[in-house]
Amino acid sequence: MSVDLSKYKKDFPIFARKVRGGNPLIYLDSGATSQKPESVISAEADFYRTINAAVHRGAHLLAEEASEAYESARANVAKFIGAKTDEVVFTKSATESLNMIAYSLGNLGSTPHISAGDEIVVSEMEHHANLIPWQQLAKRTGAKLTWFSITKDGRLDLSDISSVITKKTKIVAITHQSNVFGTIVPLSEITKAAHAVGALVVLDACQSAPHFSIDVKKLDVDFLAFSGHKTLGPTGVGVLWGKADVLEKLEPALFGGSMVDSVTMESATWANVPRKFEAGVPNMAQAVGLSAAIDYLNIVGMDKIFEHEQELTEQLLSGLSKISGVNVVGPLDMKDRGGVISFTVDGVHPHDVGQVLDQYGIAVRTGHHCAWPLMKKLNLVGTTRASFHLYNDSNDIYALLEAIEKVKSYFKVGK
Ligand code: ALA
Repeated sequence: MSVDLSKYKKDFPIFARKVRGGNPLIYLDSGATSQKPESVISAEADFYRTINAAVHRGAHLLAEEASEAYESARANVAKFIGAKTDEVVFTKSATESLNMIAYSLGNLGSTPHISAGDEIVVSEMEHHANLIPWQQLAKRTGAKLTWFSITKDGRLDLSDISSVITKKTKIVAITHQSNVFGTIVPLSEITKAAHAVGALVVLDACQSAPHFSIDVKKLDVDFLAFSGHKTLGPTGVGVLWGKADVLEKLEPALFGGSMVDSVTMESATWANVPRKFEAGVPNMAQAVGLSAAIDYLNIVGMDKIFEHEQELTEQLLSGLSKISGVNVVGPLDMKDRGGVISFTVDGVHPHDVGQVLDQYGIAVRTGHHCAWPLMKKLNLVGTTRASFHLYNDSNDIYALLEAIEKVKSYFKVGK
């Protein structure tokens, strides 16, 4: 392999443990959640050990230090995605980020304010987190939900883009990289069509921001969401980014302490962005942990991580193509695809595949991957999915390919 990231694996304490059958851990489930380097675990713990206080409230030293750490985490996240610091809102998860935008867009006082007759565009390959909030917004407001279909090889079908994105479209909410297929979508075509009719583009970057370099200016989207825990960071922290002028025009979705400018018994006015979207004492230690994760990713280098995962993906696709009865679900070539590979084994339920792989210490995800409509469209009950991060290597691929042969002989399927 041309990119050797093997020296970094020792930074992840979890790989020191043994799993089922005394096997070393072969972790191929980073699409669900990534493992954490020691520096992230320490940064989160050190926050509690040394500076724990409620940010933006107290007059004491700890409050001052905690606020500084929290705000510098915001600046670090902003730099990571090419944004301005005040455009970054910390949430509890990417799911919360997407729900917050969808909710805010339906609130009176927001511009745009989604209402009956408006159209919201998604795609058939969305994760439930970027589908159900939009279904609910459509139900609450009387707007119509429409969507892009997928092609047979697991890509977005944009052949009818001008009939999907219309003058009525107000929002286009789309995944950057499918969590099932690994497909990276042709975003510029979508943003051009959306902006031409004055619609805003919401990008679900959960499977992209942790794996390759993102610049919100170049992407030309209006909102972007990703989660900390898939980005080597802690659970309990997500990012919502929005263009400053777009965020300014939105009403918040959550109300409470610290997000106000002034309050009377009858009403309240809001603090500036991003504070107006961060009601309550925020997830300070988690934001600081995410910042440490970003430092770590920057040291390794996002371009190297992407290249490394591309090599692993190519290797796995090639290996799977040589096993009879194994079918890759999604793009078979390397064009615009990331390190997420779904497959089926003829005659074996994905859950059974996953359970046998587990006997060999191999962790994969099985099932519908929170993309149930996509599975229905494909007439599948689910798939087995391998997904990578920087700590994976060729040995993981060999082990997976070998174990798939064992799955086949265990269930006596194929040759
Ligand atoms: N969204 C995560 C996945 O695709 C949990 O596995």
